[in-house]
Amino acid sequence: MTPVVEISADADATGSRVAERIAALIRAKPDAVVGVATGSSPEPVYRALARHIDDGLDASGVSWFALDEYIGLPHGDPQSYRAVLERVLIEPLGLDTASLHVPDGAAADPDAAAAAYEMALAGTTVDLQILGIGENGHIGFNEPGTPFTATTHRASLTRSTRMANARFFPSLDAVPQECLTQGLATIMRARRIELVAFGERKAGAVAAALYGPITDRCPASLLRRHPDVRVSVDAEAATELRATSCAVQQ
Ligand code: F6R
Repeated sequence: MTPVVEISADADATGSRVAERIAALIRAKPDAVVGVATGSSPEPVYRALARHIDDGLDASGVSWFALDEYIGLPHGDPQSYRAVLERVLIEPLGLDTASLHVPDGAAADPDAAAAAYEMALAGTTVDLQILGIGENGHIGFNEPGTPFTATTHRASLTRSTRMANARFFPSLDAVPQECLTQGLATIMRARRIELVAFGERKAGAVAAALYGPITDRCPASLLRRHPDVRVSVDAEAATELRATSCAVQQ
């Protein structure tokens, strides 16, 4: 099915619109399960969601499931995705850390940690999954070439992804080489998906995901086989979109 594409003037406007839909979900279903991404893209969404909490939204019954985690960072490392999500989501929303589920990237056996996380997700249904997109079309840390059938697994990060994430670390060498990530099949089980992308450097990946071939070379292209996907972008990430090919909302 063709994803709905929503273009806003800037990241904050997009964040507000996506957060409004998450807030509506939580009002309708106080024990909703929400899948959360890390990185820069979802941060405007989390900031806007915190304003709903300030206005009285009760999200205390929600379970939050992370998409991925680095392998090799010790528990509590500030760049681990658990620590990032505690900082940008759990603390600003005044939530209990027990409501946040993240694969254990510091586990002695990462493959077992991946299997345990997949089991946890198999026992629930994600009502709404928030995604960012890599410049190479990755979602979660499913890099190009990842099979569409993959469930939560251990994966190597490409050099381009490590370079893109080096801004959070003292040097490129400090960026982990591996991660645990929900697989593409895991992500596709979510009832609804909201992908957010900002800035000109994402324009090519967004266009490839929406109009290119559905191929493992562009993992996000698989989202076109999901029945309920919305792609929310700012004007810069929309520069390669064709209004005729999808249901564009301004
Ligand atoms: C992060 C994740 C990644 C990012 C992507 C974009 O949990 O799963 O797919 O969403 O790398 O990162 P940003 O938003 O930092 O450009």
